[in-house]
Amino acid sequence: MAKKFIIEGGRYLKGEIRIRGAKNAVTKQMVAALSAPGKSVLTNVPEIGDVEITRGILASLGCVIEHRQDEGVLEIDAANLSTPVVPRQYSGLNRIPILLAGVLLHRFGRAGIPMMGGCDIGPRPVDFHLEGFRALGADIEYRDGAYHFTAKRLRGARVTLPFPSVGATENLMMAAATAQGTTEIRNAAIEPEIVDLALFLQGMGAIITQETDRTWSIQGVDSLHPATHRVINDRIEAASFAVSAIATRGDVLIRGADQLHMLTFLNWLRKAGGEFEMVEDGIRFCGMHSKLKPIAVETGVHPGLMTDWQQPLVILLTQAEGMSVIHETVYENRFGYAETLNRMGARIQLYSECLGGRDCRFRQLGHKHSAVIMGPTPLTGAHIEIPDLRAGFSYLVAAVLAKGRTEISGVQYIERGYDRVVEKFRQLGVPISVEQS
Ligand code: EPU
Repeated sequence: MAKKFIIEGGRYLKGEIRIRGAKNAVTKQMVAALSAPGKSVLTNVPEIGDVEITRGILASLGCVIEHRQDEGVLEIDAANLSTPVVPRQYSGLNRIPILLAGVLLHRFGRAGIPMMGGCDIGPRPVDFHLEGFRALGADIEYRDGAYHFTAKRLRGARVTLPFPSVGATENLMMAAATAQGTTEIRNAAIEPEIVDLALFLQGMGAIITQETDRTWSIQGVDSLHPATHRVINDRIEAASFAVSAIATRGDVLIRGADQLHMLTFLNWLRKAGGEFEMVEDGIRFCGMHSKLKPIAVETGVHPGLMTDWQQPLVILLTQAEGMSVIHETVYENRFGYAETLNRMGARIQLYSECLGGRDCRFRQLGHKHSAVIMGPTPLTGAHIEIPDLRAGFSYLVAAVLAKGRTEISGVQYIERGYDRVVEKFRQLGVPISVEQS
């Protein structure tokens, strides 16, 4: 049944919420648990669709999983895996199947991975993953809509990624943990969620060193053992609510927001006029007296401004006085959601040039990857359809700001990545009604 959110706008967010474990960490750690026969335990697990999808994938491979949602505990028993082939039904639901290549090779010497999908934000190829596995000695064949990997045991190698891809770094890190010899992943991603994966793997017995200059060095071990790990908090969830508080001129204490992992975001928020203060267990964001100012910023890999912070930030900038520029350098097609915001009254124009900063790898390729936002613009309620997860959250914030009623469909995208989102908005004084149709 399709679900809709209905919001009467013109409100502000006030109160307190708690952030939970990061979507982009927990799902990878669920995969890593398969490296060791036995029961691994993850805590601080969020209640999101992506955990459920990943749980389905793992169960289809023979894992026995217990998820105690209220406690945020996930027990994954990977003692008796039954197949190295990910069923086709999981292709296209999220980005997880390709990340199983290394752990399934370790357990079976082969892996069958259907072509995958995720949000509709560009082509999202897997060539870096495949090249990396070839360098580690895997044979890969593509047939009948799936990649088939084989390798008795992977061998350590030096792999230089063409771009610091999060998924390719994680995939190769998990594969290298039990390869023979040492692997170096250069030009690698170093996002906090990847460090958190390295910590979990270390708990399982892996030897992983973070070198300078975006290099991970992994000394392979013969086997890993089960472990218990607390998932890092979700810095995207924290930033999304932070921006919502400021844009709506509200006042929200976000427990679990971690300054260490939000340094870049907080700097840009401050430059845009957003006010915040650190408290014992989180950060309080207060927009009641903020004078919002325009900024020119580009997204980038860590420690740059995350591409997943871009969409909520755009909403904030629709309320700032003057012209802002955002240059998206991670994905070529991540402004598709702007048209709907324009329908609600925003003034956002997209350009294929690299605006406001350095040239990026999308220069002259014709992708509309720069946005100019004119503000402040009042927004008005509308009927809107969500195209992807992060855009979806932005639409929610736009709806809270907008005058009148907004009906949002496609909410399964939001629920894939945001823990108990309706409950959290209600807790902050915004009554979202949920309709099934
Ligand atoms: N890329 C390639 N070839 C590859 C891999 C990546 O060309 O083999 C390109 C991509 O097309 C993209 C860039 O490299 O242009 C970066 O992609 P990356 O591999 O880093 O992204 P990902 O691992 O697929 C994760 C998150 C995304 C987040 C990005 C960037 C998960 C499940 N997804 O994707 O999160 O935006 O890293 O930080 O961890 C989201 O949470 O909404 C989301 C999209």
